[in-house]
Amino acid sequence: MTGINLLITALIYIFPAYVANSSAVFFGGGKPIDLGKTLKGRRILGDGKTFRGFGSGLVLGTVTGLILSIIMKNNELLPLGFLLSLGAVSGDLAASFFKRRIGLERGEPAILLDQLDFAMGAVLLGSLVAPPEGTIFILIVLITPAIHLTANGIGYLIGLKDDPW
Ligand code: CTP
Ligand code: MG
Repeated sequence: MTGINLLITALIYIFPAYVANSSAVFFGGGKPIDLGKTLKGRRILGDGKTFRGFGSGLVLGTVTGLILSIIMKNNELLPLGFLLSLGAVSGDLAASFFKRRIGLERGEPAILLDQLDFAMGAVLLGSLVAPPEGTIFILIVLITPAIHLTANGIGYLIGLKDDPW
């Protein structure tokens, strides 16, 4: 495959995870998943991880997989989309859990963790049905932080996000 084909393949593979992650930001809010509970004096996850964000990410990411499966006439893309989305929203939760344990408050930046948590969770679960080739995986790791920071920067400027990371 040529470089540009590899890049497009990587973007299509990870796209449901991007939709899941953005949907959580766009539609999130309301009741936090940890219900406000703490562990050793710190929030388990924090107010930034809500049921609505988790649910909308899972649903809209899966719908993206469905649409991709129809467009590309590939049935595997629906279960893949579901697993990528579940992995994305769960990876994001896992990172928040970790951030709270090391003493970072909700919204405090954790370089690379904030940008890659959801994509790594997505690849982990997505690999159950379709593991990406090594080159595709490396491309995902390289392009996701840039795309994530750009998208979040825009989200911040239009008032959707409280901080630009
Ligand atoms: N969000 C949500 N539910 C989720 C994930 C995200 O409601 N499961 C929304 C929240 O409004 C959150 C915003 O998306 O503030 C941005 O997500 P993120 O940057 O991951 O959360 P932070 O608020 O920065 O919190 P943390 O420090 O835990 O990452
Ligand atoms: Mg954040």
